[in-house]
Amino acid sequence: MELKVDVNRCSAELDRLAQFSDVPAPAVQRVVFTPTDLAARGYLIELFEAAGLRVRVDPIGNILARWEGADPSLPALATGSHTDAIPYSGKYDGTVGVLGGLEAIRTLQQAGVKPRRSIELIMFTSEEPTRFAYGCLGSRLLSGQLAPDAAATLTDADGQRLDAVRQNAGFKGLLADVKLQPGHYAAFVELHIEQGPLLERAGLAIGAVTAIAAPAALRVRYTGPGGHAGGVMMADRRDPLIAGSRLALEVDAAARDSGSPDTVGTVGVLDVHPRAVNSIPRDVQLEIDVRDIDGPRRDRVLERIKRQAQTFGDELGVPTTIEMINADPPATSDPTIVAAIEKSCADAKLTHQRMVSRAYHDSLFMSLVCPIAMIFIPCRDGMSHRPEEYSSPEAIRAGIEVLARTLYQLAE
Ligand code: GLV
Ligand code: MN
Ligand code: MN
Ligand code: MN
Repeated sequence: MELKVDVNRCSAELDRLAQFSDVPAPAVQRVVFTPTDLAARGYLIELFEAAGLRVRVDPIGNILARWEGADPSLPALATGSHTDAIPYSGKYDGTVGVLGGLEAIRTLQQAGVKPRRSIELIMFTSEEPTRFAYGCLGSRLLSGQLAPDAAATLTDADGQRLDAVRQNAGFKGLLADVKLQPGHYAAFVELHIEQGPLLERAGLAIGAVTAIAAPAALRVRYTGPGGHAGGVMMADRRDPLIAGSRLALEVDAAARDSGSPDTVGTVGVLDVHPRAVNSIPRDVQLEIDVRDIDGPRRDRVLERIKRQAQTFGDELGVPTTIEMINADPPATSDPTIVAAIEKSCADAKLTHQRMVSRAYHDSLFMSLVCPIAMIFIPCRDGMSHRPEEYSSPEAIRAGIEVLARTLYQLAE
């Protein structure tokens, strides 16, 4: 089958989507349920409807756009990703899977085929943990991994509850109605930039993702009496930032000591209150991200970090709270879909390799309700979550063609 991908149209749409941003270009920032996110969603729905897709928006704001197949009674295939963007990030993370998914559908439409199964394009709400500290909200609720009541009471940094925020943003209905029935989808395939350097280094066009690393996050809070930076003598201090600083070093050491380069640990949030140069900190909060493709090894690292977090607080004599935000298992791709991706690469005369995903994705949670796999494309210098993030039109074109061919194979 001959497929003609209009990558220029997709690139123009990626550029347009990047303009929905709360920071100056080339950086992008689109946080869930902000006016900017809502405006971007409006743009996406226009595009989906113009392609003849039937759009449904569920109570958490997932956008599900359906291209009816020849036999609508069959469970549909799904593809898609996210369009929220973390602070000061780039324009390809997630968006390539949504707008590339749209282009894959339009490519099949243009080729004049009518797949047997329907194909649904999903834009998942809040894959990023930016606002509610919890990533993959949309796919966790779709899969039933996150209970609706637990989701409703998540709060943002201003203390606003998710349930109120989403309703004020116009997403009504019961969160309990988001969950999919078993067998709803026949498969889910997500196109995404690699967010690492391996494909580019190997000079390969496509990564067929066989597994997704297990992500975890925890929050540690130390509080102390604070005081005047001049008046309180060193011997009299209990500065919670000292415990926090020791913990930051410990996270780095624990990840390095795991015995595998696949373990990674990051302190991405370190908040100091009241943040005044002449005031001893009174409240220090860290959010710590730990991942590994080996779940039990990740958990051993987490245990060490939690133990040491308590020890540092105790040694300093400051109140300490340790709260797990999430600790999810790894996911494995379905071998049949991986084989379909590999056949698509061969048909499209594109080079590829099998690989694991070190970032997490909505596929991690979709794997709980249907077979999944992912298609990776290279990004320049492996950069992501930075304004410099870049994938070339040729790389994106290759990803779209492989996605289109894979969906077509699976839909027949
Ligand atoms: C999602 O962007 C992640 O942190 O992997
Ligand atoms: Mn991301
Ligand atoms: Mn992403
Ligand atoms: Mn991600």
